[in-house]
Amino acid sequence: MTFRTPMIAAAAVMFSTSLLAQNAPKLKIGLMLPYTGTYASLGNAIENGFKLYLSEQGNKFSGREVEFFKVDDESDPSKATDNVNKLVKRDNVDVLIGSVHSGVAMAMAKVAKDNGTLLIVPNAGADAVTGPMCAPNIFRTSFSNWQPGYAMGNVMAAKGLKKVVTITWKYAAGDESVRGFKEGFEKGGGSVVKELSLPFPNVEFQALLTEIAATKPDAVYTFFAGGGAVKFVKDYAAAGLKKAIPLYGAGFITDGTLDAQGEAAEGMYTTLHYADSLGTARDNAFRLAYAKSFKMQPDVYAVQGYDAAQVLAIGLKAVKGDLSKKAEFAAAVEKEKVDSPRGAFTISKAHNPVQDIYLRQVVGKENKLVGIASKALADPARGCKS
Ligand code: PHB
Repeated sequence: MTFRTPMIAAAAVMFSTSLLAQNAPKLKIGLMLPYTGTYASLGNAIENGFKLYLSEQGNKFSGREVEFFKVDDESDPSKATDNVNKLVKRDNVDVLIGSVHSGVAMAMAKVAKDNGTLLIVPNAGADAVTGPMCAPNIFRTSFSNWQPGYAMGNVMAAKGLKKVVTITWKYAAGDESVRGFKEGFEKGGGSVVKELSLPFPNVEFQALLTEIAATKPDAVYTFFAGGGAVKFVKDYAAAGLKKAIPLYGAGFITDGTLDAQGEAAEGMYTTLHYADSLGTARDNAFRLAYAKSFKMQPDVYAVQGYDAAQVLAIGLKAVKGDLSKKAEFAAAVEKEKVDSPRGAFTISKAHNPVQDIYLRQVVGKENKLVGIASKALADPARGCKS
């Protein structure tokens, strides 16, 4: 009865794989995000997005159930090393997901680089993470701070603007966003006449707004996000500057914030790797599912969290759930396209998204798509030797 042998063998294989899946230990995922402070809503949106993708996969990655460990990092770099070590040493997580704040993410990247834990950054744009600190086990599903800034530099130079003042928080994200902007803007013939800043997460903007009014630039470029972005845009309009000196920015200034900003944000142009009206089947399905699950509209942070889960799934599938196969995990992620709601993108050798940066304009409660500011923009990954 030779025909029976392959059937028995096939049944045995099925039995053993299902047994394997059942016996495989839970995948321990450490979420290190801000759940309090100016970036709290960003952390929540990232977690929502991540969990939405997981639920679409039957709440399993490569057959493994998931257990979450959460830390509120408060967007505080001084606590970041202790916080990440809680997840790595105390909870023994297999994967780190975090964070929003560039300073916190750099501390996470240092720990991940030193001990080899898989890290997926779902927001923080710190150029160093996919620059000098790049590593086979560190990935980012968001952007580098340079990317939206550089794209907006090109847009504003092409508009014929010549003299611009920049204003931001004084830390890696603000500094690097402005640096990227300057690179694009100066290449196109513009000049930055003044760089204003205040410490993160301060929101006493009045003295700086007075300085902008006195300088009379053609326009202002800004990086703020979360609660600080809401207040800045409202204060800018209340100071009477909105009509006289147009305000542009990296798209975080108006993403996830429009309900709170209202009329003050109307008409603003920004650059980002997402917009509210892409109108693709992929994005429409994502937006519907997100709204159904969380009773609110998604924003760029929700997309980045969703894509962090997608990248984890791509890598895990390639290594059949075995995270010790780091080179194979990385090779799969570098090879495969990520089918993101923002539009499909690839992950560079330095592990940063190569993606379209959109020009958007605020119309009512939406960041409406105007066009593509920069097609398939890759971060220069300066200093990455991996
Ligand atoms: C960052 O710190 O890198 C950061 C924070 C919030 C954003 C974007 C970048 O919206």
